[in-house]
Amino acid sequence: MCGIIGYVGSKETDVTSILLEGLSKLEYRGYDSAGIAVLGSEGNIKLHRRAGKIANLVATVEEDVTPELSTLGIGHTRWATHGRPNDINAHPHPDCTGGLTVVHNGIIENYAELRIELQQEGHSFQSDTDSEVLAHLIERAYFGDANHDLVLAVRTALQRVTGSYSIGVVSNEHPDLLVGARCAGPLIVGIGEGEQFLASDIPALLKHTRRVLILEEGEVAVLRPEGVKLMTLYGTEIEREPTTIDWDTEAAEKGGYPYFVIKEINEQPDALRRALTGRIRDGKLRLPEMERIEHSGLLKNIQRIIVVACGTSFHAGMIAKYAIEKWARIPVETITAAEFRYCDPIVGPDTLCIAVTQSGETADTLVGIRQAREHGAPVIAVTNIVSSAITRLADAVLYLQAGPEIGVVATKSFVSSVAVLYLLGLYLGEQRGRITAEQMSEFTGALEILPEQIQRILDHANSEHDSIEPLAKRMADTNSMIFIGRGVGYPTALEGALKLKEISYIHAEGFPAGELKHGSIALLDEHTPLVAVATASHVYEKVVSNIQEVRARDAHIIVVATEGDERIRQHADDILYVPATMEVFSPLLASVPLQLFAYHVAVARGCNVDQPRNLAKSVTVE
Ligand code: F6R
Repeated sequence: MCGIIGYVGSKETDVTSILLEGLSKLEYRGYDSAGIAVLGSEGNIKLHRRAGKIANLVATVEEDVTPELSTLGIGHTRWATHGRPNDINAHPHPDCTGGLTVVHNGIIENYAELRIELQQEGHSFQSDTDSEVLAHLIERAYFGDANHDLVLAVRTALQRVTGSYSIGVVSNEHPDLLVGARCAGPLIVGIGEGEQFLASDIPALLKHTRRVLILEEGEVAVLRPEGVKLMTLYGTEIEREPTTIDWDTEAAEKGGYPYFVIKEINEQPDALRRALTGRIRDGKLRLPEMERIEHSGLLKNIQRIIVVACGTSFHAGMIAKYAIEKWARIPVETITAAEFRYCDPIVGPDTLCIAVTQSGETADTLVGIRQAREHGAPVIAVTNIVSSAITRLADAVLYLQAGPEIGVVATKSFVSSVAVLYLLGLYLGEQRGRITAEQMSEFTGALEILPEQIQRILDHANSEHDSIEPLAKRMADTNSMIFIGRGVGYPTALEGALKLKEISYIHAEGFPAGELKHGSIALLDEHTPLVAVATASHVYEKVVSNIQEVRARDAHIIVVATEGDERIRQHADDILYVPATMEVFSPLLASVPLQLFAYHVAVARGCNVDQPRNLAKSVTVE
């Protein structure tokens, strides 16, 4: 979704380059236009805005023959919601005077009525966006006050707004002031020496500073070269110590790989190790993060669990359902967050809600979880981002510790989410007295070797014996593919299909293998390959029967199977082998060749794997 970058400093510097570089670090969030506003030497605000990639914006800026040093600027990558992705709708948005400029991430829900009100007062609008009302609202408050107090004007304007926003605001009358504010949608202040930064996300700041202040909802940040003040929308000052980010800059760079996605797929063994580190010791499980919720008694009367999540995180939740029900014998429902909120869910203090969101900022998930809390449900959050919005809605937070994931599609965060959910399932099983010490030692032992097993899959794929890339190249011209699986193989198939469609734009659908014959099998012919997840399991024979049904319809069959399974050869045209593990853990291994397959198909088709069309990393609007 949209990305914000802002800079204010005491010495004149190349603000344009700082903003453009910051925007390039936010590209992964997803966008379709970009722009910057920089304070010029003659006290004017210089705007550059372009539809399309940041390269278009850079080209426009380079055409400007008089690049100059400055102290102040804001920039933005826009993911269109209201108004087409063209130059005029790109941010920053100026007010009527051109002296005030605003960047905005989110949706102003009452923008239509505000726009009419402002137009009736004589404000003239240039764009079709909801965001532009902010520029004019701030303008009205600013020029309506003899002191031209920008901070007060921003606070006054925002009090009229409903919806979600993170914003950055600058004025040509205040060369040493950058104002930020947040109500949903992430916004972070980076603290420097004699200079301050504002950004939607940490990677945009890492080059300049690791000391950050994470804004909470309803907060305003006043950035001046000498320091930063936080306050509420109503002006009450807030004290907060900066957080130090321990990501290294390399973690947010490609490190020699052609795309972040393939780097992150290859980082999965390490990501998984970090998810398990300190949480398994000597065959025992330790989740200190659960102590507080345990002691509060909130888990005592839990009768059911609802996992609320979207997209890939939803698939992780589906896998968790199998594990938690098996180990804790608590009924688990997995529901996509966008539906949860509007289905009048039956939740209360006896319903544990588990929110799975790697970004911690997905609007659908946040809104659903907020509603569940209002009904008294205890909440556990599984997320990768420290202090993200979901953490403030949760009674306990389990961090993935996966490191930054820059590729728009989730890969390592998926594997880490599944692993953390397994730990939570084991924890609940142990709490309920359903897992013996011996079983715990077996489960944790199997979990601990998974990073090595994933490494083996990757090493093979990176060697001359790799069969995934050649297969992907052969499949690159396919129009449609079907993925099937049973039990935990079913969400694995769904995730395989999602990865393929997201980055290669090939139509792909996942089905429960047994369900295919009830209708969807009609889709299959010799032009529609089938990918079957048929790793060792109690439903293996059933999946093989389903594969045979498809084979009889001439479809090309690709099977993900367990090493040593020679029998499957007679049913498959291509086999992607993974090491043997316990059935419940098999998705963590079976997903890896499917990720690699999707990646290589996308590369063979010439797709931009890191930034697929129409997608955004954090979906911060409902
Ligand atoms: C798929 C993908 C999305 C996200 C979904 C939820 O590759 O990345 O489907 O999984 O938007 O995002 P989070 O986990 O941040 O809530």
